[in-house]
Amino acid sequence: MIAIACDHAAIELKEEIKRLLTERGLEYTDFGTNDTASCHYPVFGAQAAQAVADGRCDRGIVICGTGIGMSLVANKVKGIRCALCSDPYSARMTRAHNDANMLALGARVIGVELAKMIVEAWLDTPFEGGRHQTRVDMITAIENGETIE
Ligand code: RB5
Repeated sequence: MIAIACDHAAIELKEEIKRLLTERGLEYTDFGTNDTASCHYPVFGAQAAQAVADGRCDRGIVICGTGIGMSLVANKVKGIRCALCSDPYSARMTRAHNDANMLALGARVIGVELAKMIVEAWLDTPFEGGRHQTRVDMITAIENGETIE
């Protein structure tokens, strides 16, 4: 189950990504927003991130104008590693190396076809583990207020 959310700047791109998920046989939960009325992206981004953090959803995609606000919001939720990507290489690497469980996109930054390529790269790439697991564990330790060396 994929959590998906957007603000008013990204309604159209969210619909395109939902279509892509359906084409790929993936289920999603849409946490809004659902119209183009100006809204506050933290409301919707937090709901999607919380669903991933508590296991209701496996991974999440959040979209706003730049992707920055949504990525900041998602990364405030414990257990979330949200990567803002504008290219497929970063999307692939943030799965392989950072085990990013959420993806942020900027609807005013990238086009629809590029966004779809980014989502596909992010969906299709497994985490490599190994030394990268050590580093992800360090991120978790920081999140837990621990000092790392
Ligand atoms: C909305 O105007 C815009 O600020 C929002 O979509 C996002 O880009 C924030 O980071």
